[in-house]
Amino acid sequence: MMSETKTTRRNGFVQKHLLGIRELEVGEITHVLDTAESFRDISRREIKKVPTLRGRTVINLFFEPSTRTRTSFEIAAKRLSADAINISASTSSVTKGETLLDTARNLEAMAPDCIVIRHSSAGAAHQLARICDAGIINAGDGSHEHPTQALLDAMTIRERKGKIEGLEVAIIGDILHSRVARSNVFLLTKLGANVRVAGPGTLVPHEFEELVDDHLRVESRIEDALDDADVVMILRIQRERQDAAFFPSMREYAVHYGLNLARLSKAKPDAIVMHPGPMNRGIEIASDVADGSRSLILDQVANGLAVRMAVLYLLVGGAGGHARVDEGFSKRTSGRGKKDEAVDSERLFD
Ligand code: CP
Repeated sequence: MMSETKTTRRNGFVQKHLLGIRELEVGEITHVLDTAESFRDISRREIKKVPTLRGRTVINLFFEPSTRTRTSFEIAAKRLSADAINISASTSSVTKGETLLDTARNLEAMAPDCIVIRHSSAGAAHQLARICDAGIINAGDGSHEHPTQALLDAMTIRERKGKIEGLEVAIIGDILHSRVARSNVFLLTKLGANVRVAGPGTLVPHEFEELVDDHLRVESRIEDALDDADVVMILRIQRERQDAAFFPSMREYAVHYGLNLARLSKAKPDAIVMHPGPMNRGIEIASDVADGSRSLILDQVANGLAVRMAVLYLLVGGAGGHARVDEGFSKRTSGRGKKDEAVDSERLFD
């Protein structure tokens, strides 16, 4: 069955799939962030499980390695009582020549509610969304987008800084290959932050120069990007996506673009340091910065779980999801009026 890209929802989140940040409206982004805040407390309870998605099925289809994203989607689904199934490229019939679309059609025949996909090809999640009735979540497609990473980054910034609008955010490193940079630029500029991206000229795509406006600028020197920044986001050098020499050596990259304590002193004294992981310690970030008091790297991971719970909830169950889920929501909330649109942790999680 062909899938519609948008459905009208009662909860302020109108997407059927989460394919990228570019297509989200500001209200949808803040709705996910607010919902994630409501979910954060579940992971601090002694019993970290609620029945919200009981009877739903989430398939994690990962064609690239992942520690954080795959694990947190699996834990998120399980904490919401959904059935979570993990499939990796090496154990799937892709190794026998099956195409991605045939794999998706076969999984779809087993009626999952949601497929979370990571793939090395930009647009892989969009392809699945065109043929699948299940909700599709993009967990990273090549160098294109990684929407849940940008959402968890925004949640982490908002938690520490109390806002996003007006903040000065430096994104430094391998911009060219980074789906994290692309999703973050879309999200942060939509929410009114001022973003500076910096990296070797060979690792900053022309696309970013075309996107430059009042909220985005491109710097070639890391020091200029760091100057008075509130947030410093360091990106991994993606050796696996580099089929050419973009800079002379890792050592030279560390010397000219690595974030160390001396460079960090250019940013505001209360600037926070972020990295999506996995880190190349000693290359794009020094260990004393990564492990220092201003680093929020593990807070990002913790918030990733809450964001993925929120995204699964909004797409698959609770107040959103497919028709049968809407029915359940209507019954539970009839007569509650406009307040229904906010997530109420007492009502949904217990
Ligand atoms: N940040 C991130 O996507 O990490 P993983 O590759 O471990 O999922």
